[in-house]
Amino acid sequence: MAQSYPISRRRFVGAATAGLAAGPMLLTPDGAASPVPSPAGKTLPRGLFTLGVASGDPTPDGIVLWTRLAPRPLSGGGMPNRGVQVEWEIAEDERFTRGRRVASVTAHPLHGHAVHVEVAGLRPDTEYFYRFRAGQELSPTGRTRTAPEATADLRRLRFAFASCQDYESGYYTAYQHLVQEDIAFVAFLGDYIYEGAPNTAAARVHEGTGEPYSLREYRNRHAQYRSDPDLQRAHATFPWIVTFDDHELDNNWADEIPQDPALQSPAAFRSRRRAAFQAYYEHMPLRRASVPSGLDMRLHRRLRFGSLATLHVLDTRQYRSDQPTTLAAAESAALTMTGADQERWLVDGMRASGTAWNLLANQVMWATNDRKAGPEQVYDFDNWDGYRAQRKRLLQFFGSGQVSNTVVLTGDRHCTWVCDLKPDFNDPASPVVAAEITGTSITSGGNPNTASFHAAYDPIMAESPHWKYIDNQRGYMVCDLSPDRLVSSLRLVDTVWAQSATVRSAAEFVVESGRPGIAVSHQEARAPRMLATGPRFAVKDDQDSHPLR
Ligand SMILES: [Fe+2]
Repeated sequence: MAQSYPISRRRFVGAATAGLAAGPMLLTPDGAASPVPSPAGKTLPRGLFTLGVASGDPTPDGIVLWTRLAPRPLSGGGMPNRGVQVEWEIAEDERFTRGRRVASVTAHPLHGHAVHVEVAGLRPDTEYFYRFRAGQELSPTGRTRTAPEATADLRRLRFAFASCQDYESGYYTAYQHLVQEDIAFVAFLGDYIYEGAPNTAAARVHEGTGEPYSLREYRNRHAQYRSDPDLQRAHATFPWIVTFDDHELDNNWADEIPQDPALQSPAAFRSRRRAAFQAYYEHMPLRRASVPSGLDMRLHRRLRFGSLATLHVLDTRQYRSDQPTTLAAAESAALTMTGADQERWLVDGMRASGTAWNLLANQVMWATNDRKAGPEQVYDFDNWDGYRAQRKRLLQFFGSGQVSNTVVLTGDRHCTWVCDLKPDFNDPASPVVAAEITGTSITSGGNPNTASFHAAYDPIMAESPHWKYIDNQRGYMVCDLSPDRLVSSLRLVDTVWAQSATVRSAAEFVVESGRPGIAVSHQEARAPRMLATGPRFAVKDDQDSHPLR
């Protein structure tokens, strides 16, 4: 049966406004549900659901439901040091009458009183509503959706991807518009939090007194981000599929190596990594398979959407070699971005996917990105430009005929960068084997200077024929996938330095099935569209190590 996923005309805008529950309400378990333990409500602090609700990693019969009890979100959470019963409820309608299920779980202090419920036995390709109760409080209601059956002849899949939401860089105006999109899920490609110390000159100021190192500090940082009402609403409106990049731990970290090894001992950094991973897991709608174990946390995984698409979620931080520092070193076959095991997992999984499209939820750019016009070449070796032998090997595989329609979705860059991918970017005869869509950022970089961006990069674009479109404004990408083509629409907001913004579709890109590479099918006339007036703020942008601003 042909299906679309989801073309729902329903517009659910989650009730998540700062997690303020709708007052005391008692839920009545339906006959099929197990008995609900009586909550110890009287002894709990008030305001348990300050961080809202979320769902994630949809399968045809299940979904992860998330919340975290945190009455004092910026001070360690504020919960008593004991387990607390949390009731969860899911149904096919907002009034919780159809197909309703209720059960309870314990929120443990060891997990910061976060709750991850892996609901199974749901119907495929179906919209669900969910909420939690603890003590006498009811959480906001979230909406989510299961994936279609793996064998479903899916004709359409709409989703969005986003990345890089530095709280200090501005407001999450993009999410005010994202929640209006008709999409099945949001893929978040990394830099969910930033670890920077508070900067009082920023648009919004980080909590705390410095960078986070301990579990309590990472919990507080995540809780600050998650207190944002626009972010809460985006989580409450769609399931998210998340992976991290560097700032969830430390700028440009690589496996057990920090950005500044002279300042962080190996033991101290391992301890920091454990704290950051634990807090990340606690705040994300991830499955039990991602519970941190020792120093590690399994994030690379696959999600399937009928016969149409497989989303291969990558982790390019945890297993990578340290960044090289010279172009010659970047050619070394010994360097890996993914580790050998994940590379094998990716190749085997792409070859066997059986879906029309293979989408990679990826962090850093694959397409070579020279940052200097003329013969001099300047690269960011934190990107795949630093791991050239592995990049070439994988790109040759994408072009080998063993894998169908590869499209890499990328974050990190704080710019839109739409590119053809080729095994050898320096060889005009090297075939195009895939497309890469690097989305911009939700906030990171703040309101940009588009004129200086184009002054710096337009001359380099003239020397980089695999670049099809570049831009440095804030927003997100909406993808509309069918068996025949992928149409990707760039949504841009006009400011992140005010609490609301307008949005527009600034450009559209098309990948045709069976024809590797990407084309620009529409773009607005180029003119600075971000607000030129209004307040200006200091922005610390890790992408600024190039001739900009
Ligand atoms: Fe970023």
